[in-house]
Amino acid sequence: MLNNKTCQHPKMATTTSLATRTSQKTLPIIFSLSLFLIIIFIHTKPALDSHFYYIYTQLDPNTNTPLNSKPIIQTPPILEPNSTNQELSNDNRISKTGTGFDESDTIDENPVFEIKLNDTQLANDEPNASETHFYEDKVELVKKSVEWGRSCDMNNGKWVRDDENYPIYRSGSCPFVDEAFDCNVNGRVDDDYMKWRWEPDACHLPRFNATDFLVRLTGKRLLLVGDSMNRNQYESLLCLLYESLPNKSKMYEIHGYKISKGRGYFVFKFEDYNCTVEFLRSHFLVREGIRKNAQGNSNPTLSMDVIDKSAGRWKKADILVFNTGHWWVHGKTSRGKNYFKEGDYIHPKFDAVEAFRRAMKTWGKWIDKNMNKEKLVFYRGYSSAHFRGGEWDSGGTCHGEKEPIKSGRIIDSYPLKMKIIEEVIQDMKFPVVLLNVTRLTNFRKDGHPSVYGKNVTGLKKVSTKREDCSHWCLPGVPDAWNELIYATLVAQNKVTG
Ligand SMILES: *[C@@H]1O[C@H](CO)[C@@H](O)[C@H](O)[C@H]1NC(C)=O
Ligand SMILES: *[C@@H]1O[C@H](CO)[C@@H](O)[C@H](O)[C@H]1NC(C)=O
Ligand SMILES: *[C@@H]1O[C@H](CO)[C@@H](O)[C@H](O)[C@H]1NC(C)=O
Ligand SMILES: *[C@@H]1O[C@H](CO)[C@@H](O)[C@H](O)[C@H]1NC(C)=O
Ligand SMILES: *[C@@H]1O[C@H](CO)[C@@H](O)[C@H](O)[C@H]1NC(C)=O
Ligand SMILES: *[C@@H]1O[C@H](CO)[C@@H](O)[C@H](O)[C@H]1NC(C)=O
Ligand SMILES: *[C@@H]1O[C@H](CO)[C@@H](O)[C@H](O)[C@H]1NC(C)=O
Ligand SMILES: *[C@@H]1O[C@H](CO)[C@@H](O)[C@H](O)[C@H]1NC(C)=O
Repeated sequence: MLNNKTCQHPKMATTTSLATRTSQKTLPIIFSLSLFLIIIFIHTKPALDSHFYYIYTQLDPNTNTPLNSKPIIQTPPILEPNSTNQELSNDNRISKTGTGFDESDTIDENPVFEIKLNDTQLANDEPNASETHFYEDKVELVKKSVEWGRSCDMNNGKWVRDDENYPIYRSGSCPFVDEAFDCNVNGRVDDDYMKWRWEPDACHLPRFNATDFLVRLTGKRLLLVGDSMNRNQYESLLCLLYESLPNKSKMYEIHGYKISKGRGYFVFKFEDYNCTVEFLRSHFLVREGIRKNAQGNSNPTLSMDVIDKSAGRWKKADILVFNTGHWWVHGKTSRGKNYFKEGDYIHPKFDAVEAFRRAMKTWGKWIDKNMNKEKLVFYRGYSSAHFRGGEWDSGGTCHGEKEPIKSGRIIDSYPLKMKIIEEVIQDMKFPVVLLNVTRLTNFRKDGHPSVYGKNVTGLKKVSTKREDCSHWCLPGVPDAWNELIYATLVAQNKVTG
């Protein structure tokens, strides 16, 4: 099943091997730099994520006002656009000078952040018992695919232009792409960004075969759990599978829900394969709560030591794909004031990096306790954003980018969050497959919706006020992540069957 032919186009590659070689020499430098930066991070308690470095200012402990209006770290520690990456260059002036987000800031406007479901809605989404029992006891041993997923270095490689086979599904032909990712329908005219195939250096990926994917899913439940980035991947997966169905009405959402960002739970059933592909929103993977303060105001909290409420449903799935990350850099989370909770104790102030580590450990413990050898668990790594000249709320842009990055230090950037996840996974008993897509996404400054996240019909001009340089157009980059999942499944049967 592993098809070598699909990987035999070295000449077509826009080569990145130079960058790779250079990176080996500069590795010690980058390492010491990272160490230095981590120390700075710890001392200044800023964002987990360098992309959001600008929002942190030192507060006067007495007045709670900024000591100075300048961010502590003035250049992005890893993504250093002007010096090392010409393509992401131009002025990276810091336009946000206050204390960062106000509590009243609406998170819905950040392309990364979405509306939250309340518990009532979540409860109504509960699939009823008669629908779930037949999924049990359906899965074979997945050891081999785990081994393969861990041994194949999928993260080093290159994007190869492949006009013949890509995109795998046509833009505009898939009903599951929501407006935010439907770039061409929204008016984006260039389509080169759809025509790249990810090719690891070290191992061959099988050619994507949706029918075969569904055959492998027969009788199983595949569940993606995470934030809107995972919904992005989820929609991609639905499209990839839908494309292959001869009778499209044999795939449907069991509640009749339409894909939209307002809803946090979807179950698509594939009738002919007796399988489901599901999505469950969980921004942090650990439990969010509400605390009432003395004035009677409700404030959000996050329990670092308690798994998310929806975890009961995770148990029922056979194949799981987790992610979290983008929400950890948001105002209240990264500031960590009266927010992070352990037991009944709410820390007055807590470092977001440490909170992330503890939350991931909570997740790891839950997986170790609740998953068995018949389950296949992926963690999909951090997906990079490409804002230049600002951030998502301060004029940052990626509009007009039509090609992947070919060289520059951004390609090697690897966030601290990912190092933490690696540590956690290493300490776990359960063999989680890390879909280490960070590097793969680093190249793809051309793949974001930018201004094409909205369908602006009629006379209105496309809004350029806020761009989405975090999510991905579909067809596009998340298709490649799903190809990695497919490759992992194929490896399983190749060895066992
Ligand atoms: C990068 O940009 C900053 C501010 O725009 C500037 O101060 C700095 O000198 C630039 N660095 C290089 C290497 O161009
Ligand atoms: C939760 O959502 C439901 C349905 O949209 C709504 O009827 C209910 O009032 C909401 N509850 C809260 C506490 O917001
Ligand atoms: C449970 O599923 C059955 C069959 O799909 C349906 O008839 C019934 O209305 C569902 N019950 C609830 C409470 O949704
Ligand atoms: C917007 O949506 C409409 C209907 O859904 C569609 O016909 C149109 O092509 C879309 N795109 C633009 C740019 O108007
Ligand atoms: C895809 O998989 C199906 C089912 O395993 C198989 O019948 C078909 O030949 C495959 N298609 C290609 C192009 O390999
Ligand atoms: C497609 O599937 C639907 C639902 O199962 C069925 O009613 C319909 O007859 C099928 N159409 C064809 C052409 O097989
Ligand atoms: C789905 O699979 C289960 C167990 O594998 C089986 O009991 C059930 O009959 C199947 N459903 C359909 C509609 O084929
Ligand atoms: C993930 O990829 C990065 C490069 O982008 C690499 O530094 C790191 O070691 C990889 N991690 C694993 C576990 O393969």
